[in-house]
Amino acid sequence: MTDKKLIVENELAQHLNIRDVKGEKIINTKMSQLCCQLAEEGIVLLENNGVLPLQKEDNIALFGRSQFDYFYVGYGSGGEVNPPYKINLVDGLKAENVMLNELLLDKYQKFIENHPIQDSLWGQWPRHLDEFELEDGLLKTVSQQSNVAVVVIGRAAGEDRENELEPGSYYLTETERSNLDRITNFFENIIIIINSGNIIDLSWLNNYKDKISALLLAWQGGMESGRALANILVGNANPSGKLPDTIAQKYDYYPSSNNFGQPEITEYVEDIYVGYRYFETFHPEQVLYPFGYGLSYSQFTVNSNASIQDDSILIKVQVENVGKVAGKEVVQVYYNPPQGKLGKSLRNLIRFDKTVELKPKESEELEFRINISEMASYDDSGATGNPYCYVLEPGQYDILVGTSLLDLKLVCTYDLKKIRVTEKLSQKAPAEYEFNRMFPKRVGNDLEVAFQKVPVRIENLKEKIIQNLPPKITIPNKDNLYLSTSKTIEELILSLTPTELDSLTRGEGKMDSPLGPKGNAGILGGTTDSLREKGIPPITTTDGPAGIRLNYYTALLPCGTALASSWNTALVEEMGKVFGAEMKALKTQVILAPGMNIHRNPLGGRNFEYFSEDPYLSGKMGAHYVLGVQSNKVAACPKHFVCNNQETNRNKNDSRVSERALREIYLKGFEICIKEAKPYSIMTSYNKINGVWAHYHYDLVTDILRNEWKYDGCVMTDWWMQLAQDPNFEHLTNNAYRLRAQVDILMPGGLSFTVKENDNSLIESLEKDDGITIEEVRRSAANILRFIEKIYA
Ligand code: BGC
Repeated sequence: MTDKKLIVENELAQHLNIRDVKGEKIINTKMSQLCCQLAEEGIVLLENNGVLPLQKEDNIALFGRSQFDYFYVGYGSGGEVNPPYKINLVDGLKAENVMLNELLLDKYQKFIENHPIQDSLWGQWPRHLDEFELEDGLLKTVSQQSNVAVVVIGRAAGEDRENELEPGSYYLTETERSNLDRITNFFENIIIIINSGNIIDLSWLNNYKDKISALLLAWQGGMESGRALANILVGNANPSGKLPDTIAQKYDYYPSSNNFGQPEITEYVEDIYVGYRYFETFHPEQVLYPFGYGLSYSQFTVNSNASIQDDSILIKVQVENVGKVAGKEVVQVYYNPPQGKLGKSLRNLIRFDKTVELKPKESEELEFRINISEMASYDDSGATGNPYCYVLEPGQYDILVGTSLLDLKLVCTYDLKKIRVTEKLSQKAPAEYEFNRMFPKRVGNDLEVAFQKVPVRIENLKEKIIQNLPPKITIPNKDNLYLSTSKTIEELILSLTPTELDSLTRGEGKMDSPLGPKGNAGILGGTTDSLREKGIPPITTTDGPAGIRLNYYTALLPCGTALASSWNTALVEEMGKVFGAEMKALKTQVILAPGMNIHRNPLGGRNFEYFSEDPYLSGKMGAHYVLGVQSNKVAACPKHFVCNNQETNRNKNDSRVSERALREIYLKGFEICIKEAKPYSIMTSYNKINGVWAHYHYDLVTDILRNEWKYDGCVMTDWWMQLAQDPNFEHLTNNAYRLRAQVDILMPGGLSFTVKENDNSLIESLEKDDGITIEEVRRSAANILRFIEKIYA
């Protein structure tokens, strides 16, 4: 950032929208720069007839009240951050000396004064803000003064509440529509900015066809939103964002549209055909803007070659900037596997990378190595003769390279003669109840949607659990002492009484604990005097993901979807590093982030917190976020494990999903993040998965996460959990049921809602012969203590 920009930042301080929160200002300039750059790189340019970047002489008429009342982030735990400043679009443009139509600015300012945003209760937040009807008289005058109209359409959603298929949420309001009708009558240059954490309906673009000169999807860019947008609009920055989701022509085309938001049971009928996997396989013609798409002010050529060496493929991609301005390009590698006994998506993202900023005529070579086993599919039915295995079915595996799904070129084909099993697993977390799932049926040359029954559980969970109870804890010969205690970790665990173990496996009881900085989400670890006396320190948790949710000024980051749209993992990691340092400065040790759930449907209320419809992109983004944060020896806590894909009845809803879709889509992002970044902790989700609440899910947490993926960190519940009796074991309820699954900590620990502070389920179960074993409880204690050690050692 140049000195000039730093001065601008100070000038902008006059417009700062500082909330009345007492605390230190922790933001450092580096964080502001990173937030700005990530917000810029996350902005996706969807249309541009040459109107952008703006010219010095352009006079801009800014429409839409979000120019002032910008939506910087969504609502709820993931958005409630107190940034020291927030730059809206007006301030951002003014700082760049863009000529703005003063008459119109004044109109909006007056309207906003008379229609202030009302405070709202949790879950009642406004999804859009009132606009005034534009009149022809005003438009006539404004269009004589200004040659470019910039129209901002603002939307927000949040926790505990979906977007709705209603005007003002997924659809435009009547006023927005009639205003657009009028603006298109008066202006020839019209730039539309969508400021939303979610994808909204864009079918109305068809009504205006060539009348829209440019379209930008700016998401919610955090506290630097306005500066980032202004930099893109004036050309200080060249757009390089790419869609992390498919924009379909209409909502009904999304494959989950008939199975989303049900209060009790949500059947994931579309199976693995989520987002572009569905559209590319069955209906590419239903797409308005495809996954991976985004324009630049420059042009790039992409030339690739590939060589196959045994079981791996090496792809070299030469990217050259052949345009007139400097910019970055994203290279995306997909594979198209053969259809076999298992249906397959015709496109699957397998690698991506972003170039450095290339000046005109500059080029960069990117290299990708793929192991063919990464293209395997999970056979959850035995259709290939290899039940519960990852298999490569025989046939041709095409590797395609491009800069979005629209311009892919075939670079090589791997021809596999015989079926190959790449990993032998066993049935885990399958559907417990039958339902129909989608698969592609060949009809002539086409693949058509057909349905088949989802495979259901065959193995006996109870027996599996009994056979795998942990052995007695042994004291190793090593004399590594735990933190500053005089005991090894095993000795320390053996010294804990059942009551202390019970305390250690729950949070301290409430949010905003006096043991942590003001506004924290709760304390774990040394939650009681006796645990602290034994040398176990208290650990503070805070939300996430858009910043550190405390009563202190902290950076408000671009929302998860904006980060993913940057496709810039290195930059996300760099931001994570500064963010982790900010956590240290504020004395919090766990950030309840990143949000790793899949954008299964555009109405998902928390989509803004999550990255993408694609598990690979989500997994990579999550991994680099975690690597950055944890380089400071503070913990990330990817959430919500797993299938928190809707907000409707989120604590009770049962996500019914095939084992294959779980493994290939919903778990995959977590798997990548966990294997590559080793997050110290993980949060389960509120919902049920195939009939079992995530916080009681033995198959998911013990068998997949820990046994298969070798995860040795700490698993905590989402905040509060439901009372339940283990259907397989009479004397296991609530906390005992939870610990059998190795969900180590109930957060924030009780006190209210469902499982209460005085819940005695663990101790009662320990006292029964066929209850939870002391070794299972100690196993979780070890998970927790090791986790704390990573922070304090
Ligand atoms: C949310 C979590 C959040 C927690 C603590 C829950 O309601 O689902 O994402 O981290 O609250 O605020």
